[in-house]
Amino acid sequence: MSTILVTGGTGYLGSHMLTELVRQGYDTLCVDNLHNSSPAVLDAVRTITGKAIPFIKADAADTAVMDKLFSSRRIDAVIHFAGHKAVGESVAHPLMYYRNNYDSALTMLEMCLKYGSALVFSSSATVYGVPHFLPLTEEHPLSAVNPYGRTKLYIEETIRDVSAAHPDFNVSILRYFNPVGAHESGLIGENPNGIPNNLMPFVCQTAAGIRKELHVFGNDYDTPDGTGVRDFIHVTDLIAGHIAALKKLETRPGCIIHNLGTGQGTSVLEMVRRFEEINGVRVPYRIVERRPGDVASCYADPSKARRELGWEAQKGLDDMVRDSWLWQQHSMAR
Ligand code: WQD
Repeated sequence: MSTILVTGGTGYLGSHMLTELVRQGYDTLCVDNLHNSSPAVLDAVRTITGKAIPFIKADAADTAVMDKLFSSRRIDAVIHFAGHKAVGESVAHPLMYYRNNYDSALTMLEMCLKYGSALVFSSSATVYGVPHFLPLTEEHPLSAVNPYGRTKLYIEETIRDVSAAHPDFNVSILRYFNPVGAHESGLIGENPNGIPNNLMPFVCQTAAGIRKELHVFGNDYDTPDGTGVRDFIHVTDLIAGHIAALKKLETRPGCIIHNLGTGQGTSVLEMVRRFEEINGVRVPYRIVERRPGDVASCYADPSKARRELGWEAQKGLDDMVRDSWLWQQHSMAR
């Protein structure tokens, strides 16, 4: 599979994906509507890789534009990141999430079937809902507790229906746990608009003095220190999992589903303390009320990906907090 289309390619995960695809010798294209990202990211990718990646500013849901693209050249596989991803925003604007996330996925499915491309879909551990057991395996029951999670779940179910009707369609569903960190260059990273929803960008902005203090959402969970436990995974490990999935799709496996996590649970306060210790900075915080919709603990059993994709996470917390802080410092220097 030499030509890969990345949708959402100027986003946090997309930009790291573009960088690694070029490094691995893939012919790479990028589609993004720039709703939540900047085209400057492509300059950074070019600085890292030395290559200018063909970029189409478009909505992945735009069937006419996508059909023109797919008919103009062979696309062996699509890695579909494009979509809104903020849990809180999805509760306030559910229709925007359903329209955007579902439409773009349906268009990608139609294009892949019409032109014989494989698909890698960016799913999330959020489809496991409130864990019935831990660590989470791919066999855990599926449910969703917010509109964002429901878009992921409904797209997964749609993919399974399409796969049943088209056994020759090759698709990988990858369920991410909590992506953090940044490329070692510090040139690309998580760059949320406005007040960050996710923990790591908030920690970085607090350490940088942009935010006054981190609000820790509850310390009365049934966890070792009472704060939420998550499976944080370095973004470069997550991206390596996509390369492994692409290679697996070349064996024509039909529909495959894998967790991309480390298998290691880390609490919010553990992450904060490690961030301070490794980077020699302070992260002032205050314990506040729980955030609605949060689960106490969520971490992966990554053994299926190890067994079937030959993939497992390599980087630990020190790399995650160091690379996140490097990115924060670089992005302030620009
Ligand atoms: C992690 C922990 C919070 C912010 C969500 C989506 C998932 C994926 C990642 C998109 C929790 C605590 C956070 C803060 C805090 N989606 N926290 N103060 O909710 O596990 O996962 O984002 O990429 O699909 O569900 O990630 O980083 O928001 O929270 O205390 O200011 O940090 O309570 O325990 P989450 P998160």
